[in-house]
Amino acid sequence: MASAARDIKPNQDELSTHVSRSLSLSTSPIASFHSPPSSHGGMAHAASSTRAPKLLKPFATEDIKILLLENVNQTGRDILLKQGYQVEYLKSSLPEDELIEKIRDVHVIGIRSKTKLTERVLKEARNLIVIGCFCIGTNQVDLQYAANHGMAVFNSPFSNSRSVAELVVAEIIALARQLCDRSSEMHNGTWNKVSNKCWEVRGKTLGIVGYGHIGSQLSVLADAMGMTVIYYDVVNLMAMGTSRQVPTLEALLREADFVTLHVPELPETKNMIGPEQFSQMKRGSYLINASRGSVVDIPALIQAMREGTIAGAALDVYPNEPAGNGDYFNNELNSWGADLRSLKNLILTPHIGGSTEEAQSAIGIEVAEALVRYVNEGVTIGAVNMPEVNLRSLTMEEPNHGRVIYIHQNIPGVLRRVNEILGDHNVDKQMTDSRGDVAYLMADISDVNASNIKELYEKLESLPCMSFMPLEYRVIRQSKKQVELTVNLFNQLES
Ligand SMILES: NC(=O)c1ccc[n+]([C@@H]2O[C@H](COP(=O)([O-])OP(=O)(O)OC[C@H]3O[C@@H](n4cnc5c(N)ncnc54)[C@H](O)[C@@H]3O)[C@@H](O)[C@H]2O)c1
Repeated sequence: MASAARDIKPNQDELSTHVSRSLSLSTSPIASFHSPPSSHGGMAHAASSTRAPKLLKPFATEDIKILLLENVNQTGRDILLKQGYQVEYLKSSLPEDELIEKIRDVHVIGIRSKTKLTERVLKEARNLIVIGCFCIGTNQVDLQYAANHGMAVFNSPFSNSRSVAELVVAEIIALARQLCDRSSEMHNGTWNKVSNKCWEVRGKTLGIVGYGHIGSQLSVLADAMGMTVIYYDVVNLMAMGTSRQVPTLEALLREADFVTLHVPELPETKNMIGPEQFSQMKRGSYLINASRGSVVDIPALIQAMREGTIAGAALDVYPNEPAGNGDYFNNELNSWGADLRSLKNLILTPHIGGSTEEAQSAIGIEVAEALVRYVNEGVTIGAVNMPEVNLRSLTMEEPNHGRVIYIHQNIPGVLRRVNEILGDHNVDKQMTDSRGDVAYLMADISDVNASNIKELYEKLESLPCMSFMPLEYRVIRQSKKQVELTVNLFNQLES
């Protein structure tokens, strides 16, 4: 049986380091325009507060069990260990049956891209409250099943933006100087000293399509190299440095010497660069795609390069990519593979844009901090399958305050009934939001004692919830073990 929950005095230095690091991750103009920290206070408020925030502990810290698979970066492991959680760390993923055995027991799981958290696996995860994907993608997780069962999912979509931007800078210069062709000629013993059609990048125009996290980073770097930067985006965005937004893709293609793509994979971006767009590009210009493989019509690119419209290209992403390393980049995978490989001044890289030590380390920090914030305070900022909800932290000067997290089905009447229950107490602050079928309520209540907590728990339990944390104690699921745990907590509090 788990031991009783209790308040743990937070380490103020540690907490503020976490908060400031979290803030520094949002570097994109997109982030500040579209994903501000909660207007109800949120991280920004916590950072500026001089009062010590109180860490809400649903269990005794040492009772939180975390399973980390697939060699999650040391940075992430360290953050979780420092919290005092029980962390089991494995270098590899697990076969499904072993995964099911292990997941039954844990509150938190950290994975990368190889572990498939399907409905079959998650059904067995009776204690699981949160999943950390220590990577960019989340399609290895059944997000809807997780949301419907009160399990938040976090990932790290932007920690590798700088790495991608730097790769593109390298490619701009390498294409302009035909660097990769010269290098492979030398590897084959050929000395071929040429300057014909080799250029400096200073004074040339870079056209960035998609001015988000990566596009805007790249803009700054290209500006510093003396390039003229123009960009096209479906959203009006503030220009970095001396760059300039252009109104249409065509305007960008007609003006740019280098065109680089940084848009998401969407129906509208599929084959965004095809025969028509190649015909609009300047003769002798270059194309770089480190976004998603579906964005470029590859046979049209092959044609444009053979005709000399395009003087070179760099591809990091492909319509079909192999699942693992090996000699799989062949015609079976993509029918045009051999034609593509035969082209001159074409840089092909195996989706390594974001693959750096720095990016892995940043991913470890970002995801682990999101997990800690969720476990300790119920904050869902950055969750991919739940509404993003946050409130100003409770402080140590508020001893009889508590936080209710109530995850429920987004159906008419539930919130009214929850508020009728909470209404017996002084609700200091409250925020609720919904995403599809799932709604998330966070409420801070003052002047509550242990018997109030028990009463609230019992009343809330009778509502159609997916999961909730009454005050500082979290009932994860209505499993027998959890109910026993909760009852035990209340007994101890009352004695
Ligand atoms: N090669 C790699 O290893 C690697 C690593 C990370 C990200 N990526 C990919 O890079 C791309 C960009 O990532 P990001 O983090 O900068 O994304 P982001 O969401 O920060 O920015 C994308 C930008 O594209 C804009 N956009 C959307 N649709 C558009 C359209 N039809 N026309 C013009 N602009 C459009 C958006 O408004 C946004 O400003 C994504 O496809 C991502 O998957 C690749």
